[in-house]
Amino acid sequence: MKISVFGTGYVGLVTAACFAELGHEVLGADVDEGKILRLEKGEIPIYEPGLEEIVKRNMKERRLRFTTDTVSAVSFGELLFVAVGTPPTDTGEPDMRYVHAVADTIGENLAEDRRIVIMKSTVPVGISPQVRDRIAAKLAARGFDGRTTGGKKMDFEVVSNPEFLKEGDAIKDFMYPDRIVVGVVAPWAREVMADLYAPFVKSGHKILMMDPASAEMAKYAANTFLAARISLMNQLAGIAEVLGADIEQVRQALASDQRIGKHFLYPGVGYGGSCFPKDVTALAATAKKAGVDHSLIAAIEEVNAAQKARFAKKALEALGSARGKKLAVWGLAFKPKTDDMRQAPSVEIIEAFLSAGATVTAYDPVAHAEARKAFGDRIAYAEDMYLALDGAEALVVITEWAQFREPDFQKIGARMARKLIVDGRNIYDPEHMRELGFTYVSIGRPTIG
Ligand SMILES: NC(=O)c1ccc[n+]([C@@H]2O[C@H](COP(=O)([O-])OP(=O)(O)OC[C@H]3O[C@@H](n4cnc5c(N)ncnc54)[C@H](O)[C@@H]3O)[C@@H](O)[C@H]2O)c1
Repeated sequence: MKISVFGTGYVGLVTAACFAELGHEVLGADVDEGKILRLEKGEIPIYEPGLEEIVKRNMKERRLRFTTDTVSAVSFGELLFVAVGTPPTDTGEPDMRYVHAVADTIGENLAEDRRIVIMKSTVPVGISPQVRDRIAAKLAARGFDGRTTGGKKMDFEVVSNPEFLKEGDAIKDFMYPDRIVVGVVAPWAREVMADLYAPFVKSGHKILMMDPASAEMAKYAANTFLAARISLMNQLAGIAEVLGADIEQVRQALASDQRIGKHFLYPGVGYGGSCFPKDVTALAATAKKAGVDHSLIAAIEEVNAAQKARFAKKALEALGSARGKKLAVWGLAFKPKTDDMRQAPSVEIIEAFLSAGATVTAYDPVAHAEARKAFGDRIAYAEDMYLALDGAEALVVITEWAQFREPDFQKIGARMARKLIVDGRNIYDPEHMRELGFTYVSIGRPTIG
């Protein structure tokens, strides 16, 4: 099939590359000229394991191309994927301006009957008919009837196909999804979507066809659910600390319960990224607008904000006076295996350290360039994880990259001015820390030393 993808960010680029890998002819369109220029040279603007190889291979084999010409992308694709950003507005509701811009371009240029506009962007529940109307209005201005009756007929359909990929595992998540959700009304479009995803179904993956509003809500519900688990664990960790329980042991008891399961049960510094904070806030804002109770959902974000502040406070308390002291930070990206700094907890935590008068030297395997956008030269960036430690009064672990899990503790102790580790991800064993003579502060567990 011929597929156009509007937006070549995390979701759009992965979508374009993976559909090309499956044998489709794909055109990725973006209004960011710099991004397209880099992609045309085979450079990947984001860090995502495995993506570069797939992009390069499919470009070489001419199944994948990129353009800034969004008009040509309208005429190219039989399927028009929309994967542009939907950042939050002041009210928390998603900013639909980029989706609207793509819808307008489609309505102004659509020239073939029976094209399908597929929303991969995370959009407000119940929005599909509005996007459809927007395209239909542009078509009507050109003398076409976007519906099935009257005028010169130009039928098209807007389908919801939310994306559930995780940054850092995006290729695997796209190729081996837990489920594919498709919200579609017209039977002909339903058939096309079933054909598109038939190879996935053949290899045992589930496709769930539903109405568009339910598909849109499924995306928000999934992220809200996962964020709720994290906030609940963080609140339980806070309670465990005060009551003298060990949240790690509590976690293991919970994870063994089949009704609960083991995923998203790790307490930490609070969640971040471009999706959880935005989507939880958006669902709450949409519910508020609709006058529906959303008190539980609102609390998820409140607990998350408090967790980031609580962790920063805890690290500063362990340090004593922070003024003039050097802190080493391991991990800046909002999670391992990505360079994405959007809503990364490291930002608020490090800002709190700087406000308290500390100096910070940070190390992240891939996120320094993105982190510079947030901190500039207000912090130092170390070339390797051990270099960050020289003369530090504390090591603060914020992101649980694999290479931080089994470090050389002798080397750590020798480089630091004081053997203090503040672990925001509970990746070290407290007893081991005691044996090595570290003061060890973690989440929801008794402090060592
Ligand atoms: N990042 C994730 O892990 C993830 C996962 C699931 C869903 N989503 C959702 O997918 C959507 C995209 O997220 P992202 O992280 O890929 O965003 P992103 O900011 O990385 O990429 C969006 C891209 O769209 C481009 N764009 C803006 N207007 C355009 C236009 N008119 N025509 C063509 N391109 C245009 C931008 O230049 C940018 O490159 C969002 O709605 C997000 O909530 C993201």
